[in-house]
Amino acid sequence: MAIAPASVGEVDAGLRAVGYLPGESTSLVSYLAARLGKPVLVEGPAGVGKTELAKALAAYLDRTLVRLQCYEGLDEAKALYEWNYRKQLLRIQAEATGTGWDAVQDDIFGEEFLLARPLMTAIASEEPVVLLIDEIDKTDQEFEAMLLELLSDFQITIPELGRIGARTHPVVLLTSNNSRELTEALKRRCLYLWLDYPTPQRELEIVRMHTPDLPDAVATKLVEVIALVRDLDLKKPPSIAESIDWARALLLLGAEDIDEDMFRQTMSIIVKHRTDLDVVAERVGVRLGLAPRPA
Ligand SMILES: Nc1ncnc2c1ncn2[C@@H]1O[C@H](COP(=O)(O)OP(=O)(O)OP(=O)(O)O)[C@@H](O)[C@H]1O
Ligand SMILES: [Mg+2]
Repeated sequence: MAIAPASVGEVDAGLRAVGYLPGESTSLVSYLAARLGKPVLVEGPAGVGKTELAKALAAYLDRTLVRLQCYEGLDEAKALYEWNYRKQLLRIQAEATGTGWDAVQDDIFGEEFLLARPLMTAIASEEPVVLLIDEIDKTDQEFEAMLLELLSDFQITIPELGRIGARTHPVVLLTSNNSRELTEALKRRCLYLWLDYPTPQRELEIVRMHTPDLPDAVATKLVEVIALVRDLDLKKPPSIAESIDWARALLLLGAEDIDEDMFRQTMSIIVKHRTDLDVVAERVGVRLGLAPRPA
């Protein structure tokens, strides 16, 4: 049975219970989305938990997650629905010769011959779902326009069949990395959530959650170093995803501390551009080197 949260605090606790540590506005916006039935546009840099939020919400709300991964050139046939041509063709062939066009047409444009793609699946589902429209900024503006009908009326029009309205109301999350500016029309229909890099304290909690066995001293240092690295002017600052990967690697290597050597050996886990590596090695490596080292 799908859950209907009664307060922001409940959403906060629910997301934590499924392994997602929400920031303050994350719980608030998620609560409003679930209660007001408005889609949420989630923006922010790579790897800060945008996609994960949708997964966590689905787990917490006990709903199926329906995911539409966007890419350049994505069209309605892949996002909404498509006619199952092969099946239609088989039906036509199976019809006795001499059946009139009208009879065949009635047959082959029924729901049975529709291939539902994620958007339609979400709309037509008997049980309410969480719909994740991931990386909407990768599509073009025409696709966005098509989404508008869906996001404002929660219905889809199929010329041959008519209107298909939502049986249940999905919680909708759209994510964007800001690779292009989204239209005002889309933004107007959505609640907005900006996810940024977490505070060191929250990041420490997240790292602990993912690698509970990592020694405390290492986890604390890791979060400090990550914050240092993010402060440098890098092409691609490390995200939460990289912090977690680094924590896992350090755990595997049995690190007791992040000293200069350990840092140099493992820094490519958090920094992934040639030029960034040089900057980080120079600026952070030196700072770590300042810590007293055993002779
Ligand atoms: N608040 C959080 N609590 C727990 N884990 C988190 C949190 N935020 C991020 N993570 C972890 O960080 C990783 C990256 O998150 P996610 O894939 O959602 O990033 P994203 O924002 O969608 O990135 P991209 O823009 O590259 O798609 C995930 O493995 C997730 O488990
Ligand atoms: Mg993502």
